[in-house]
Amino acid sequence: MLLKLFALSVLINCATPYPMPSTDTIPRDDQKPKECTVLQTAQILFECSPKVENILELLGSNYGKASGDPQFYQKVNTMCQQAKSCYGNITCDDAVKRQEILNKACDFDIVAFPEIQECMQKYFGKAFNVFLDNPELYDSYNFINNTLAERRNPDKKRVFMTFVQSNCTANSVDYFTKKYEKIVDAIATQPDSHDCREVHHQLNYLRCPVLVAETHRRYNNLSFLDRLFRRTQKVVKALDVAKKCMNNAKCIMTD
Ligand SMILES: *[C@@H]1O[C@H](CO)[C@@H](O)[C@H](O)[C@H]1NC(C)=O
Ligand SMILES: *[C@@H]1O[C@H](CO)[C@@H](O)[C@H](O)[C@H]1NC(C)=O
Ligand SMILES: *[C@@H]1O[C@H](CO)[C@@H](O)[C@H](O)[C@H]1NC(C)=O
Ligand SMILES: *[C@@H]1O[C@H](CO)[C@@H](O)[C@H](O)[C@H]1NC(C)=O
Repeated sequence: MLLKLFALSVLINCATPYPMPSTDTIPRDDQKPKECTVLQTAQILFECSPKVENILELLGSNYGKASGDPQFYQKVNTMCQQAKSCYGNITCDDAVKRQEILNKACDFDIVAFPEIQECMQKYFGKAFNVFLDNPELYDSYNFINNTLAERRNPDKKRVFMTFVQSNCTANSVDYFTKKYEKIVDAIATQPDSHDCREVHHQLNYLRCPVLVAETHRRYNNLSFLDRLFRRTQKVVKALDVAKKCMNNAKCIMTD
């Protein structure tokens, strides 16, 4: 439900024709504004913008209903490609602004595809179990690293993609083949903002419940003898990690 709320808020935010530019996208004063020509404005307004609106509308109206429908992913994918090529190499300011909206909707749309969320969550579950049961192997499952070199380690991508290929849908394979780097960067980078629309927070909202559920399962599975003989180290470790994940995942809905 929470996920659904901020999925919608992403879409609503994107749908605003003129979003407030964040300070780092405001052009420095050595860069002159590039006005769009009449021809470019017409192209943007009549050809490209409707394509973007259609994507936002489709993502919004299908949220949560598309599970198991591989056509939905392919449709959005095709629409994103068409919208991107509509802007072609128009680089005037208004086009750039609108392309940012488009890219945000098309690049970080994981919340729109339940099959891909599910895949991501299965992997988080697998990585957590390796962390608890085979810590010596965990390194190759841990792509949540603060150094770029570690995140770009091809072995980690291979382990991840092998998992996806054998445990997820064809669309998930396609999705992560294209977006793996963006996803791992987003999850490793704690943003300054606590805004739930940040991809980082959205990924935490996929990941943390998986850790909590797995911890709960292990906690419930502790036997009387486990408790008696204090064979609870793994559960204690799991609780600690799950709790930290939840604490870091806090975000707030803003307008
Ligand atoms: C991009 O610009 C080049 C040169 O100005 C032009 O030949 C090409 O057709 C343009 N591409 C698109 C997609 O508009
Ligand atoms: C990043 O990777 C290095 C080398 O594998 C590891 O020692 C370190 O703990 C990792 N950092 C995080 C935050 O996972
Ligand atoms: C597929 O998922 C199962 C269950 O999480 C896991 O044990 C297995 O290692 C995965 N396959 C690959 C190739 O990673
Ligand atoms: C659940 O508990 C049983 C008995 O203690 C143990 O054999 C089994 O491995 C446990 N399963 C998990 C997933 O921890």
